[in-house]
Amino acid sequence: MTDPKGFATRAIHTGYDPLQNEGALTPPLHLTSTFTFETAEVGAELFAGERAGHIYSRISNPTLDLLEQRMASLEGAEAGLALASGMGAVTSVLWTLLSPGDEVIVDKTLYGCTFAYMHHGLRKFGITITHVDLTEPDNLTAAMTDRTRVVYFETPANPNMRLVDIAAVSKIAHAGGAQVVVDNTYATPYLTRPIALGADLVLHSATKYLGGHGDLVAGIVVGRAEQITEIRLVGMKDMTGAVMAPFNAMLIMRGLKTLALRMDRHCASAQVVANWLEGHPEVAKVHFPGLESFDQHALAKQQMTQPGAMIAFELKGGMDAGRRMMNNLGMIARAVSLGDAETLIQHPASMTHSTYTPEERAEHGISDGLIRLSVGLEDVEDILADLHGALSPRLSVVAG
Ligand SMILES: Cc1ncc(COP(=O)(O)O)c(C=O)c1O
Repeated sequence: MTDPKGFATRAIHTGYDPLQNEGALTPPLHLTSTFTFETAEVGAELFAGERAGHIYSRISNPTLDLLEQRMASLEGAEAGLALASGMGAVTSVLWTLLSPGDEVIVDKTLYGCTFAYMHHGLRKFGITITHVDLTEPDNLTAAMTDRTRVVYFETPANPNMRLVDIAAVSKIAHAGGAQVVVDNTYATPYLTRPIALGADLVLHSATKYLGGHGDLVAGIVVGRAEQITEIRLVGMKDMTGAVMAPFNAMLIMRGLKTLALRMDRHCASAQVVANWLEGHPEVAKVHFPGLESFDQHALAKQQMTQPGAMIAFELKGGMDAGRRMMNNLGMIARAVSLGDAETLIQHPASMTHSTYTPEERAEHGISDGLIRLSVGLEDVEDILADLHGALSPRLSVVAG
């Protein structure tokens, strides 16, 4: 039965009873690689799947188990699996679901390493990768073949903020016999819950908002219990070995306790920053779901409870102006990653999406002048002041 308690309450309490753990308010950290069997017969039963319990921490661990339950609850899924990184989640899921000869349909835009894994990894093993513009769900109907096993996308997509209508795409994918995998890293379950909209599996780079403090690398996937067990025992245990360290699970559970609070602040500040950027004379275009000028503003309102805190923008002076602006910043960090307390800025074409060739970037809608901003938790006035100082030296000269 689903827990009727609110999101923030479940993020703090799900799966844990202090009175079962010596009264400890905070769950214990199980730093152990292996688990002792009461008898040889018990060990054999555990291996045969005839008894529940832990065997070895590359398969399961009580600290990870708690995080998995919490994330499943927050996403409205039956079960979860904690992994060593977001890429560990992407690869463990797809190695489990796919076989040579199968096809994956993906949206036009993907995070750089996911794109590289699809094109340079999966393709080597006889899997067809087909890019389809999923911002128009009907494109999927025409593209599906009898070999399409998986439809995979990010919403909002990294880095250009394209949204995909999860309900519409899931309906079409399921009618054609394919499963839907959504990378929900940008939105988090606080803003979008893809399972309720029809997705089969939802994955995250937990490195980002879920951890929330820029101090770890981790991944999570949630979905139906049977399928999560298969990903655990095939994709993770045998194919990638990408298991999460128990200490990282503790840090992510600490992060989850403030996820709702942090996301409210991230989103409110991002709206202020996006409005300000849109009004700036040096800025050519701002891509942010909370702006009325955003092409998919209506879908954002339908599918997201708030617009998120990632902004992509282009300057009138193109890439050179972008580099100059980034080098003029003081507080805002020039760094990849996102979802941290610190505001971070980066240039996708030369950084996170340099795994694409220039031709591929042009084809996939990632312009050379695009700048990606992850709005942090500092006072928004200080974020604006830094951006103003970095964008305006030329204005001051003109004015003076
Ligand atoms: C949308 C998205 N998915 C997946 C990943 C991969 O996650 P990780 O860096 O934790 O492996 C990233 C990393 O930036 C990302 O932005």
